[in-house]
Amino acid sequence: MGMLRDNYNRTFPYLRLSVTEVCNFRCSYCLPNGYKKQGMKSFLSLEEIERLIRAFAELGVKKVRLTGGEPTVRNDLADIISIIKNTVGIETVAMTTNGYKLPEFIDSYAAAGLDAINVSMDSMNKQKFHSLTGHDRLDDVLKGIRMARDLGIQKRKINAVLLKGVNDLELENYLSLIRSSDLSVRFIELMRTGDNQDYFNQYHLDPAAHIADLRQNGWQEVPREMTDGPARCFAHPDYQGSIGFIAPYSRDFCSTCNRLRVSATGGLQLCLFGADYFSLRKYLQDDQSLPDMQERVTSLLGIKPLAHELHQGNSGRTEQLAMIGG
Ligand code: GTP
Ligand code: 5AD
Ligand code: SF4
Repeated sequence: MGMLRDNYNRTFPYLRLSVTEVCNFRCSYCLPNGYKKQGMKSFLSLEEIERLIRAFAELGVKKVRLTGGEPTVRNDLADIISIIKNTVGIETVAMTTNGYKLPEFIDSYAAAGLDAINVSMDSMNKQKFHSLTGHDRLDDVLKGIRMARDLGIQKRKINAVLLKGVNDLELENYLSLIRSSDLSVRFIELMRTGDNQDYFNQYHLDPAAHIADLRQNGWQEVPREMTDGPARCFAHPDYQGSIGFIAPYSRDFCSTCNRLRVSATGGLQLCLFGADYFSLRKYLQDDQSLPDMQERVTSLLGIKPLAHELHQGNSGRTEQLAMIGG
């Protein structure tokens, strides 16, 4: 089986797998109009996940990032991690989480083989954190991140969605966090989804001013690696950690896109802002169907778009990122 490749000669060593659409937070930018009522859905089982990952690993996937919803609401998450980690060809298992459940479960995830975590922390002010997420959990999140370090999880990143008038004045807080800790803090430009138009107009902030500020203060851009995400990363000799920016509007990172997404119900999504899902679930019911799935995925890559549509002033057709986890 060859490496997955699209018409623009991009390859895909990186799969983002959503394991649930359920979330235990209510982040204001993600769910500004509350949680959309879902019918009862069944998310991929351990057996389905095992087949899916085996098939994608044969197609050259080396890194799997678990997303949600919030992945830690699944009580079989440690099993999911260990199944993926034990798949031939998979080198890295990572997870993006809101961090709330880390103090309770991170030891079992680490034991199962989790290599890396990205944790959302949109404010380092307790009250702001509470009002942004609906939960007074900043201390738990910080504790979970420390525990991950003590358990040997080296790669740890913090995500903060930049929100005008809310956390844009908190740069100092984040800087003091990374002075003597090798965390990577990434500021994410707010993205417009189908569900947050008014919110977007009120809170969207171009990160350019923050970037200029850092450069002036001796921060220098560092090159990105093959399986890295879309962040531009900056380092400073006085700081152990680094700062990144994920800016879908100000900068084209689609040309180096290296990832595919599969939803919690087994739908292949070719781009974060493409609304179409191509269901793979029927191929996951037995081993015999996996070659057909691999063929289907290979041919679908022929219609992977060159870039998302945000540059054309469109909102993402994706309704809520809570469903697919970014
Ligand atoms: P790693 O390099 O594996 O750490 O990946 P990452 O930084 O992409 O992961 P994370 O899950 O922490 O996502 C951070 C933010 O980047 C989220 O807001 C995502 O929505 C956004 N993001 C990730 N991938 C894409 C993408 O392909 N397109 C766009 N527009 N945004 C993305
Ligand atoms: N714009 C930017 N980032 C978002 N996230 C969720 N919704 C949005 C949005 N509209 C982020 C979360 C988390 C990551 C998975 O996606 O904060 O860090
Ligand atoms: Fe917040 Fe992520 Fe949950 Fe959305 S999915 S409400 S961004 S924790």
